[in-house]
Amino acid sequence: MAEIKRIAVLSSGGDAPGMNAAIRAVARKANKLGIEAVGVIGGYKGLVYENLISLTSGAVSNIINRGGTALYTDRCLEFVTEEGMQRAIDTCKRNKIDAIVAIGGDGTFRGATDLAVRGIPTIGVTGTIDNDITATDYTVGFDTAMNTVLELVDKLRDTCESHARINIIEVMGRHCGQIALCAGIASGAIATVIPEVPFDEQEILERIKAARDGGKRGMIVMVSEGVFVKDENGNDVPYAEVLTEKIKSAYGYDAKFVRPAHIVRGGVPTLRDRLTATKMGVHAMELISEGKSNLVVIENDGKIESLDIVFALTADRLYKGTLKEGDLDKFSAEEIAAMEAIADKRRAEIAELYAIANDVAL
Ligand code: F6P
Repeated sequence: MAEIKRIAVLSSGGDAPGMNAAIRAVARKANKLGIEAVGVIGGYKGLVYENLISLTSGAVSNIINRGGTALYTDRCLEFVTEEGMQRAIDTCKRNKIDAIVAIGGDGTFRGATDLAVRGIPTIGVTGTIDNDITATDYTVGFDTAMNTVLELVDKLRDTCESHARINIIEVMGRHCGQIALCAGIASGAIATVIPEVPFDEQEILERIKAARDGGKRGMIVMVSEGVFVKDENGNDVPYAEVLTEKIKSAYGYDAKFVRPAHIVRGGVPTLRDRLTATKMGVHAMELISEGKSNLVVIENDGKIESLDIVFALTADRLYKGTLKEGDLDKFSAEEIAAMEAIADKRRAEIAELYAIANDVAL
């Protein structure tokens, strides 16, 4: 690969606290390596529309402590068309961008792969509050999001205790229940419902009744936004709302539904997120300076490592049961076994946390 003189960094998809620490780390490490850094404004859209800024060391001062992403983010429909993709590549060529660091989730990495196969070396950094990228133990933003949920629930607890009320809280996470599960344990929820594990509604209702009969006034029920049930017309309805009504109608208890929604995505990043983002950003630049491409930076058993992006995306689909025909064809038996091992690790993690949540619920 030709010498790397100039790189671009972008954030794409949903923002996550800690993305700024990753951007800063990429720019500063690039500087240390004698590589010029530019920032792409608004994710892949900034590449399509050539919206770039210079990222000197000074330009990334005072962002490590800020939530959101200083480079902004966007969903870009043009980028998924061949014409938009070509415009993005032309932007890279015109601006002599030798490689890209893309911070985000699975959608971001699909975009990164599209660039890499068209000759623009790209490295992904995992940033999303959902912690839903199967190939990594951790995604930047997860810790802050959980702590934000915790803070909100602690406040709710005060008032639901005063009123002998049950608060049913729906938290973000898309199809992944990790935020709900971890924050549910840490906030002392009486029940936690996540998409990954089948639940028994009657048992939840009886548990709540047993707690109330035992003198418990306020209660917290945590539900992941990825849990839906069908209404009478066959439409998906968020389960947290349905459960709230069921608790009311089953026993006449005072129950209120709470949806913090995007509040959970904002806020000052925690130490965990700033540190992990910094390590990942630095590692991304090390990989680029070694001439590597089409990798995603992950955390594995506490170590910052990297994996082939297509391998990581396929492992993700394998775990989520969304593999398409032919997805596994390009992988060896050993690689498929490695994907299965990653998926097993995630399942074991969820099963262990779920068991703990139930052990201490009442
Ligand atoms: O992926 C991050 C996330 O916040 C999910 O938890 C949530 O489902 C989704 O993004 C919301 O997306 P939007 O910002 O487009 O409403």
